[in-house]
Amino acid sequence: MTVDLEKVNSIIEKYRDDREAFIALLQDISAEYRYLPEEVIRYVSEEIEVPVSRLFSLATFYTSFRLEPRGEHEVQVCMGTACHVRGAPRMLDKVTQKLNIKPGETTEDKRFTVETVNCVGACALGPLLVYDGKYYGKLTQWKIEKLLEGSNDEDDQSS
Ligand code: FES
Repeated sequence: MTVDLEKVNSIIEKYRDDREAFIALLQDISAEYRYLPEEVIRYVSEEIEVPVSRLFSLATFYTSFRLEPRGEHEVQVCMGTACHVRGAPRMLDKVTQKLNIKPGETTEDKRFTVETVNCVGACALGPLLVYDGKYYGKLTQWKIEKLLEGSNDEDDQSS
């Protein structure tokens, strides 16, 4: 990965006067790259003169930070109770078979990252998945097929 130091430097500069704003700094880097690249953390560590171990310990403590690259599209299959009883395990199987990855993994071409979540507050729509932040409910295997192939407009049941 090639690091755009200009972007990293501007983020570092933003927090230059707040020497304790490590989390905000990491959040901005995470927003920029959609994960925390190791080489960027090491660079930041040198620039702000904070041990790299401290930055890594923050990055691993907060579950919102990712240390692995994310896919272009994020697919979260709800495995909460209401979705589970309505067939979420079969829907998850369909997603993982279609993309040939397990939950928590990213496809080799970096197009998709798949995760499971527990209840996103739209139980009436179950089984449900969240695709790039948009809810798709009353899932069927056919809908998943279409969604992952990019022809999902007709099936949008976002809430
Ligand atoms: S259990 Fe899936 S949205 Fe609530």
